[in-house]
Amino acid sequence: MIHVAIIIGSTRPGRTAPSVARWVHDRAVRRADATFEIVDIADYDLPHLDEAKPPMMGQYNATHTNRWAAKIASFDAFVFVTPEYNHSTSGALKNAIDFLFAEWNDKAAGFVGYGVNGGTRAVEHLRVIGGELKLADVRTQVALSISSDFRDGEARPEIRHEAKLRTMLDEIVSWGEALKHVRPDERLPDIARPDVEAVVVNQWTVGSPERQQAVVDAIAAQWAHRSRPEALISFATFTSTDGDAVLTYAQWTSDTAQKEAIDAHRTTGFRVLEDEVPGIEPSGPVNYELYRSFVPDGAPPRQPGSAIVVVNIEAAGAVQAREWIDEVLSALGSEGEPHPGLIAAHFHISGDGTQILNYAEWVSERAHRDALENGPTLGIGQTDSPHWRNVQNMPGVTPAGLQRYRLSSLAGAPAG
Ligand SMILES: Cc1cc2nc3c(=O)[nH]c(=O)nc-3n(C[C@H](O)[C@H](O)[C@H](O)COP(=O)(O)O)c2cc1C
Repeated sequence: MIHVAIIIGSTRPGRTAPSVARWVHDRAVRRADATFEIVDIADYDLPHLDEAKPPMMGQYNATHTNRWAAKIASFDAFVFVTPEYNHSTSGALKNAIDFLFAEWNDKAAGFVGYGVNGGTRAVEHLRVIGGELKLADVRTQVALSISSDFRDGEARPEIRHEAKLRTMLDEIVSWGEALKHVRPDERLPDIARPDVEAVVVNQWTVGSPERQQAVVDAIAAQWAHRSRPEALISFATFTSTDGDAVLTYAQWTSDTAQKEAIDAHRTTGFRVLEDEVPGIEPSGPVNYELYRSFVPDGAPPRQPGSAIVVVNIEAAGAVQAREWIDEVLSALGSEGEPHPGLIAAHFHISGDGTQILNYAEWVSERAHRDALENGPTLGIGQTDSPHWRNVQNMPGVTPAGLQRYRLSSLAGAPAG
């Protein structure tokens, strides 16, 4: 079932917006096919946009932004309740929308406008803004008139608006349900699925967001012209949040099937990405096998905006690699409180035993940063416990870098 926000789009003292939102909410909650919640932007104390990085990069700094992002991320669809100010929506609502990006993407949106002419010009502007945010705006809208649908500053809409509201909510629920299957964060690969015997990881250092996009496009173009081999369970492409790297993670039914499929591809002119996008540095492909996974007790579910953190570690051989991972899992398991925001950590070992790859899922990039810096104790691996001391001092094992990623595309089977 989808969860729908009814967003109050006015913040001025004496506003009428809350009574409109209550009218929507009272009717919406009679439905059994979705849940509804009023979200008042005034509760988030958002200043004029004060984030240094564009919201598309998903690297929010301020506490108010992270609070607002977490709230919006938790919804599948939105009803924007908007006044009309000077033939547009309110500045406060536009500002609140501008703060975020991924949290709006691939979700449904409907509108309840009000004003002298039903707030229609405000809604028209919101539809254009929504297009840029990958919000799917439904056709039916509710247009309330200040002169006939309000009494003493409170919304008392004429009865004819009820049918419009119902149709709009029908449209929001059907699109909201459908779009759940489109959102990348809900389509992350299922790392621990039992039928995967081989994993192939490619990592490229690309140097700029433009080259990152060029690599993503080149990968998509490769796949556009060929069908997915049967033995390839999933193929995920990730882009690092700092704009510097691309990673592909492929799950195969077996090593042999993967090698056969790659040979077959070569003969059909599979092009090397480094030739297509000059200046990128590959590391890989590396064949891995999943060795062990750690899922904290009471781990949070995945949500839009969740981050993948990939940690590369070098090992002297498979024995040391396994011993080190066992110790990390004991250390994580022995911590009283799990790190908030950690969904799972999956430890892989390369075929030759010299590389470990930890693919960790976090609810957000911020949650991972917080865990590194402080967490419930001193930050991941910082506690002076015997297990963490063993992890840090184990001979023949050296950390080789960490990168935070977002899913860019997934071909094949998603999780669940
Ligand atoms: C700054 C401002 C500009 C307005 N411009 C328009 C307008 O262009 N068209 C319109 O129909 N109503 C306009 N109005 C009237 C509002 O629609 C009406 O005051 C409404 O109650 C505002 O919503 P709120 O009370 O929730 O803030 C304007 C109101 C304000 C405060």
